[in-house]
Amino acid sequence: MTIILAIESSCDETACAIVRDGKEILSNVVSSQINIHTKFGGVVPEVASRIHVENISTVISEALEKANVTIDEIDAIAYTLGPGLVGSLHVGISAAKTIAWMYDKPLIPIHHITGHIYANAFVAELEYPLLALVISGGHTELVYMKEEYDFEIIGSTRDDAIGEAYDKVARVLDLGYPGGPKIDALSKEGEASYKLPKPKVDGIYDFSFSGLKTAIIQAINREERNGNEVNIANMACSFQETALNILVDKSLKAVEEYNPKMFVIAGGVAANSRLREIMEDKFKDRDDIKLIIPPLYCCTDNAAMIAASGYIAYKHGKRGSFDDGANPSLNMD
Ligand code: KG4
Ligand code: ZN
Repeated sequence: MTIILAIESSCDETACAIVRDGKEILSNVVSSQINIHTKFGGVVPEVASRIHVENISTVISEALEKANVTIDEIDAIAYTLGPGLVGSLHVGISAAKTIAWMYDKPLIPIHHITGHIYANAFVAELEYPLLALVISGGHTELVYMKEEYDFEIIGSTRDDAIGEAYDKVARVLDLGYPGGPKIDALSKEGEASYKLPKPKVDGIYDFSFSGLKTAIIQAINREERNGNEVNIANMACSFQETALNILVDKSLKAVEEYNPKMFVIAGGVAANSRLREIMEDKFKDRDDIKLIIPPLYCCTDNAAMIAASGYIAYKHGKRGSFDDGANPSLNMD
């Protein structure tokens, strides 16, 4: 039996979780800063790191208390080394190193995206080769895993991440932050009546979303020039349908080429109800591949997913050092 304490602080959630054998969540405490950043219309990095400092000790104590384990029972400390906001990462890393040093525990540095992928291990036995669509506020990546803990990025965004596009479009439509859940909900009341261009990108599995925001601003200006009222629900729905179709099309193309046993979606945007519906529909008649959609509690940032990835990394002998520093643009390999 291996019990891992994991810490995640790469963006605007301060989180600590205790997980047994990479699967059984004993506690999963997430302190979200969303209410504070909402006032600014997005995450303010300096504010985020200060709030992490204020909350981190309480979050760790609460995770231990809820799990009903003592620090002596913990086998290793997993923590997000990157990518993310440097100041935010630094707080979680310092806490992890402090605990590891005080109680003589091994450190396991984790890449944030591997955490999002391994969140799926809470609901399924992962099978390889596996293909993952990682979609969040900071990432849009297609990741091929030939085997356990082996990651190859086969496609990524050239500009904005998909979650970032949701957040920016929501700002243009005056819907507030974070934009993803707002656009998700409002799209149900609209239809995709505005025709938006699909961005062109060279790499077959690469993405580009920044042009979509510009196209929406232009569509709004055009409507206003013509004296028409902009239907916000239809605009939200048009954006969502265009953006999700791009994700789905590229995912299916990659499935055809790589022929994985399993396809998983991961990250905050995996919480999107329309995407879940489209994906389920596309995979429903296939018995050659399993589709795994993570439960809502482990789509957005949390530390249980860092523990899940940490458990596999630990089994593979991966260990961190006290010299490791926050790496905002950490590579997966
Ligand atoms: O994974 P996450 O919590 O943080 C990062 O690692 O970036 O993802 C946050 C992102 C935000 O951009 C948010 O707008 C988006 O996930 N998001 C959604 C939904 N819920 C959260 N996007 C679309 N539909 C949703 N229901
Ligand atoms: Zn994330």
